Amino acid sequence: MCGIVGYTGSAPACGILVEGLARLEYRGYDSAGIAIQQGGATEVVCRRGRVAELAGSLAPMELGGTCGIGHTRWATHGRPSEANAHPHTSCDGRICIVHNGIIENFAELRERLIAEGHAFASDTDSEVVAHLVEARLAQTPVAADDAGLRLVQAVADAVCELVGSYALAVMSDDAPGAIVATRKDSPLIAGLAPDGAYVASDAIAMLDATRDVQVLADGQIALLMPERITCYEAAGDGLAEVEAAAVHIDWDMDVAEKTGYPDFMLKEIHEQPRVIRDTLAGRLVGNSISIDELTLSAQELNLVDRVCIIACGTSYHAGLIAKNLIEGWARIPCEVEVASEFRYRNPIMTPTTLVVAVSQSGETADTLAAIRDARVKDARVFGITNVVGSPVARESDGVVYTKANKEIAVASTKSFLGQVVSLTLLALLLAQAKGELTSAHIRQLYSELADTAELVERILADTSAIDEAAQACKDAASALFIGRGMGAACAHEGALKLKEISYLHAESYPAGEMKHGPIALIEEGFPVIAIATASPTYDKVLSNLQESRARGALVVAIATEGDEEIRSHADHVIYIPPVRDALSPILASVPLQLFARAIALARGCDVDQPRNLAKSVTVE
Ligand code: G6P
Repeated sequence: MCGIVGYTGSAPACGILVEGLARLEYRGYDSAGIAIQQGGATEVVCRRGRVAELAGSLAPMELGGTCGIGHTRWATHGRPSEANAHPHTSCDGRICIVHNGIIENFAELRERLIAEGHAFASDTDSEVVAHLVEARLAQTPVAADDAGLRLVQAVADAVCELVGSYALAVMSDDAPGAIVATRKDSPLIAGLAPDGAYVASDAIAMLDATRDVQVLADGQIALLMPERITCYEAAGDGLAEVEAAAVHIDWDMDVAEKTGYPDFMLKEIHEQPRVIRDTLAGRLVGNSISIDELTLSAQELNLVDRVCIIACGTSYHAGLIAKNLIEGWARIPCEVEVASEFRYRNPIMTPTTLVVAVSQSGETADTLAAIRDARVKDARVFGITNVVGSPVARESDGVVYTKANKEIAVASTKSFLGQVVSLTLLALLLAQAKGELTSAHIRQLYSELADTAELVERILADTSAIDEAAQACKDAASALFIGRGMGAACAHEGALKLKEISYLHAESYPAGEMKHGPIALIEEGFPVIAIATASPTYDKVLSNLQESRARGALVVAIATEGDEEIRSHADHVIYIPPVRDALSPILASVPLQLFARAIALARGCDVDQPRNLAKSVTVE
């Protein structure tokens, strides 16, 4: 949440910062601002709203400075406003900071700083950092000829007082050309390019300049100067130079562009066949599934007697799908829990519990906290994430990457499918280790899994039935998604997608639960979206559709090609190609994504940046 970018070099910083913020806007877009050093002072410009608003205000200003920091905000403390937008400054305006995260003890720090004479200009928790650094800088006795190092020491001292999470970039008028950056539990990446040094919460903001980046670890402090980046860590009373982890980013630059699509969401939906293929590449060796990154031997896997999947949002729904596969194929009990509940529940873990943490961003605060809790309790943690080098990747015992490449649209689509495919592979691996499936069966399932890429392409080739169903539902006030088994898991994701991007209220229920409450919602024209694909419970779903239609529901059914019977139970039928029930979510999810997008567009919504949401939730 919140995007940070900083640049110091030989080029004008303004354009670089605005471009970087536009790339980071998926992290939050309530307000945006930049601070640029100009002739011995710092110019700060903030605007409420999107980065485009800020860019419009900056255009006539012709800021020529070559060192600056910028921020795009997702409000936590203090409503979205120009006063609460970052960068924040110290009393004398000589210190400027941008912050991502939450300073939990900000109220007491603020009170103390006010008592010491500091005046605050915003309602944010972040502003305390500017005043703390100002106070510390005044006390920092480092040689005056190294103003950059002096700022590093002041920031190191200031962050010692912070409780909470932070990624920070700090500038001081006393240290021209220097940016100091540090983090705890919020990502921060630095990179040195021919034209200068960059820092950002995500490498995507600097990909035009460099692909070789340094991923700062918690507690590391980077000093960026135009021609170098030096990393420090606190050591005793002083600072010791350290190396940050070097990572090469190999995404195609197309990830940051819409490449002809009207929005990122549609582009990313269309990338899904590639994601399936890339996620599966190299995973079948002979007749065996291979996930070496799991770092568990076949013997250790055989001892796994319980699987706990922890995740949030869409990733949680991928977990619900996987539960059916892990229990069905590997016959291992599997629980799925939202990370924010797991972490405060004191769950029972043993060394033979395999915890699977699923997170697109790899930085969701609750998922990370749950991982830490599970590891303290001796469970083995396996991460499934889309972001190389992310905290989930670093803090898990083993990690698999979903190969979705950067996902920009806030509502997750392609990384969800990548997660489902990765979890399907994990279920096959566990079944193999437990001896529950023969090699021939595993090979067959893998081959059918690989075929889903082409089947998704077929769905994407003709979306007319989806668009018609969306037109019929677009003016509804509420909608109900139902299904059984695999269909129930898909229904949850379908409803989430719809409410996230169209603001149309949607609920999801296992179809069998209809009679226990949700059926009371149904009146003439009320949309019921049913996952009614070929499955052992198909007939039961049909009965639920009859009950819904008898009460006036407008039924949209996702069904299997060749099923003509469904037409007499539904107002709109969206067909997907035949596939075994276990793999049906991979196909059924795609029309649900397109359905949500079509409704959102018909209602005039921004499908890439829905209101109030952020793609990475780095705060509790
Ligand atoms: C946010 C995003 C969702 C995502 C969820 C979990 O709510 O908007 O798209 O599913 O966080 O994020 P993660 O990165 O852990 O998968």
